[in-house]
Amino acid sequence: MSILKVEKYRPKFHFSPAAEWMNDPNGLVYFNEEYHLFYQHHPYGMEMGAMHWGHAVSRDLMTWEHLPVALAPDENGMIFSGSAVVDWNDTTGFFGGKPGLVAIFTHHNGLTLNQTQSIAYSHDSGRTWIKYEGNPVISSDKYDDFRDPKVFWHEETKRWVMVLACGQTVCFYHSTNLKEWTFSSEFGKGIGSHDGVWECPDLFALPVDGDKTKLKWVFLVSIGNEPDIKEGSRTQYFTGHFDGRTFMPDEASQTIRWLDYGRDNYAGVSWSDIPEEDGRRIYIGWMSNWRYASTTPTKSWRGAMTIPRELTLESRNGEAALIQRPVLELEKFRTPLLEVEGEAVNELNLLLKDQQLVTYEIVAEFEPVQGIDSFGFKLRTSQQEETVAGYSVKESAVFVDRTRSGVVDFHEHFPGKHQAVLPPDLQYLQLRLIVDRSSVELFAGDGLVAITDLIYPSPSSLGLSFFCNGKNEIPYKVKMYKL
Ligand code: FRU
Repeated sequence: MSILKVEKYRPKFHFSPAAEWMNDPNGLVYFNEEYHLFYQHHPYGMEMGAMHWGHAVSRDLMTWEHLPVALAPDENGMIFSGSAVVDWNDTTGFFGGKPGLVAIFTHHNGLTLNQTQSIAYSHDSGRTWIKYEGNPVISSDKYDDFRDPKVFWHEETKRWVMVLACGQTVCFYHSTNLKEWTFSSEFGKGIGSHDGVWECPDLFALPVDGDKTKLKWVFLVSIGNEPDIKEGSRTQYFTGHFDGRTFMPDEASQTIRWLDYGRDNYAGVSWSDIPEEDGRRIYIGWMSNWRYASTTPTKSWRGAMTIPRELTLESRNGEAALIQRPVLELEKFRTPLLEVEGEAVNELNLLLKDQQLVTYEIVAEFEPVQGIDSFGFKLRTSQQEETVAGYSVKESAVFVDRTRSGVVDFHEHFPGKHQAVLPPDLQYLQLRLIVDRSSVELFAGDGLVAITDLIYPSPSSLGLSFFCNGKNEIPYKVKMYKL
């Protein structure tokens, strides 16, 4: 088999493992000018198995250096998801007074199915790890699903805080040294979606509309795959207040709010210890879905991450909404191809016809005037294949339709159309599309909604066109870049 054939779906600018299986991002931490990305990894198989932490580092969030496996199973079990922090003040005593990295993760005992929380530390910027001799540091007889610790330093109470998934809620713990933990509270009963088990929580404060005097807490939690739920696994978010012990949701959190309306953004969490001068909250998700993750048609590797995204809180329709934008670093990888403003659909199509590309970005703005039903782009097209990304005026919704996107028959729930409703009073519709060899990410309403979907088109499906149902004209501004 030719290399080309093996690698035809290999993302060009999204992270994917060098070989074998990958799921959740783990241990996201910034230290000594490196972004660390650890990840759930089975180094000996193309499906989930004996889980390890794989490892990669980057200086720009876009290009990654693969490093050896960081954590391997031991007598306490497999290494499930978790986080990492910089222990700046050596609260653990592991670092002789200097700062160092500590990983906090779940040990999953494959025989008893017991789940416990453990820690490990590194003296060499995450290259090698020493497991703490007192592991596990938290156990429970109460919960079978008890995992995915996310830890951060809570300055007001001067303690470490852990948020941990416990069945269909989360538990908060606190600690002064990352070794001894005290239970604080539980959150989640009777609020939000309980379509599946809760996994991979994250909790952080963000300024509302950039105003540092108005902080709100954002709580992310992923919901596992359940056969009756057509969407498979997905992620919800809440906003509220956190005092170091208890999370109190806002009024707006009484309604379920999804992080992404596509099928392929799961178990995402944010980087810890990004320097204050930078100040961003950067998120990455696993670009797949437990519904079909182990059947996707890649060879030799399986699983990729979303584009890293900056998260902000912005006032939209009277509430603080979680906004996602691809990190600015992406823009350094752009080669401008096209910048056009006009109305005639056929003129735009003449320009798009020449762009026979696999990996690109489109940034567009439209004025959905009277008489138009729907409009958008057809990507990666050929006679047999197309992925449609656009806006339905009637439903006031953006959508990605991957029904005919290429190879879709590996799972009955893979093909389909996924949409997100936007406030109907939008005067201009902004669409931003990021297309890699096997994915489409659509951002609309200036980051208000995201749709992340995997696609497996043939490498020769390179067509690109614009459609506008109901009219031959629509006011547009379109920019296109090669990535
Ligand atoms: C989420 C998850 C986590 C778990 C890990 C195992 O995708 O199920 O809850 O720690 O994957 O790989």
